Amino acid sequence: MRFDILTIFPDFFSALELSLIGKAQTQGLLEVNVNDLRSWTHDTHRTVDDAPFGGGAGMVMKADVWAEAIDAVLMQNSQSGRQVLAIPTPAGKPLTQEICANLAQAQQVLVACGRYEGIDARIAQYYAEQTEIEVLEYSLGDYVLNGGEVAAIALVEAVGRLVPGMVGNPDSLIEESHGEAGLLEYPVYTRPVDFRGYKVPEVLLSGNHLKIADWRYSQAVSRTLERRPDMLQNLDASRLNTTDLAHFASFGWYRKANASTLTNVVFRSATAEDLPVLLDLAERYESTYKDPELSLDFYTYDESSLRGQTWIAQTATKEIIAYGIVSQTRSQLRIAQIFVTTSWQDSGLYFNFLEYIFSQLQMRYANQKNMQILLRVKMRDTRMQKFYKKLGFRRFTVTKRSVGDEFNEYLTLVRPLNMEK
Ligand code: 6GU
Repeated sequence: MRFDILTIFPDFFSALELSLIGKAQTQGLLEVNVNDLRSWTHDTHRTVDDAPFGGGAGMVMKADVWAEAIDAVLMQNSQSGRQVLAIPTPAGKPLTQEICANLAQAQQVLVACGRYEGIDARIAQYYAEQTEIEVLEYSLGDYVLNGGEVAAIALVEAVGRLVPGMVGNPDSLIEESHGEAGLLEYPVYTRPVDFRGYKVPEVLLSGNHLKIADWRYSQAVSRTLERRPDMLQNLDASRLNTTDLAHFASFGWYRKANASTLTNVVFRSATAEDLPVLLDLAERYESTYKDPELSLDFYTYDESSLRGQTWIAQTATKEIIAYGIVSQTRSQLRIAQIFVTTSWQDSGLYFNFLEYIFSQLQMRYANQKNMQILLRVKMRDTRMQKFYKKLGFRRFTVTKRSVGDEFNEYLTLVRPLNMEK
C-alpha cells in the first residue's frame, strides 16, 4: 500500500523513516511519499492561503492549489485499488481502530495536511461527489493542533502497522487496547521484580496461566471502567462469565436477560415523579408474589412519605427497573419489598441494590447503634435464605399465612443494621 502526504512542511515526515514504518518501507511493504504543496503554486510568493469569505480570524487554504496537487499525486499511482483522501481536521470524525483497519485495505491513502484555519471546504466535497475517491475527514481527539502533520504521522503509523506482513505476532494485534475485546489493555511488567519497592503483582509470577488470564481480564475491565466508561456501552457482553458480570455490576454496569451489551444503572431515592411508574411496578409485584401482606399502597403516597423509604434503580434511558421499600418502627427497619423487573433478575442488580439500600440506611442511622433490619423470605426459598445468610441475617420468627387457597410459610430474618467488620 502507499501513502502520499501533501504538506507545506515536508521535513516533519523524516520521523517516518524510523522504527517499524521505516523498516516496512525498506522491505517494500509500504511506500510513503512526501510532497511539498507549494510545488503546485504558480505565483512568486508560492501562496497557499487566502482570507476567509464571511470574515473571521486566520487564513484558509486555497481549493485551486490543493486540487492541482491532489490530482497530480493521484495520477502518480498506476495501480488499481481503493484510493482514500484523508483530511486531518479537528472538525473531523474521531479516528478509531476500526477506521484504521478499514484504511489498511486501501491501495492508496493521500493525506492532505491543512494549516491555518483549514482547507477550503469544497475540496472534501468535490472529491467525495465528483470522483471515485473516498474522502475521510478525521480528528485525533478533542483538542486543536496547529496543523494536520502530526495527525498524518499518527494515521500512517496506526494504519501502516495493520498492513498484512507488518507486525510480527498477530496476537499482539488482537490483545492490545482497542482490539477486539473492546477493553483497554491490562498493565504489563518486566524485570526487576522489585522496582523501588514496587513489586510485580504476585499472580504474574505464579505460572498459573488461567489465573493470569483472569487477572489480566479483570485489570482490563477496571481500567476501562475508570478511564473509558464510554467504551462499555459498546462492549460485547454476550460471552462474559458470572465473575466478569459481578465485576462490571460492582461498577454499576449490568447485563439484562438476553442482552449482549451492558447497561449503566444508577440507584437513587424515589420522588413523587416516579409514582406513576412505581404504581405500575407494584401491581406487577403483587401479581408476581400474590402476597397481600407484602403489598404497599402507593396510592396513599406523596413526596414526603416516599422520601427516605423508597429507592429505585434506573437505567441511563430513565427506565425504572427496580424499587425497594423500607418501613420503620422505633428500633426496627423492615425491608417491605424489593422488586426487580423480570428481565433484570439474575443480573447481579438485586444484590447491589440491597447493599445500596443498606448503606443509605446505615448513613441515616449511624448514631442508632441498636437498629435492626428485618426482611421476610418464603420458607421454600432456600436460595434466597442462603443469600441473606451470607449478608449476616439470622432466623428470627416464622409466620404462616394463607392467600386464597395457597398456604405460605415465611421466615423473618434479622441482623443488626451496622455489622462489625
Ligand atoms: Cl486531525 N488536525 C488538527 N489540526 N487538530 C487536531 C486534529 C487534527 N485532531 C485533533 N486536533
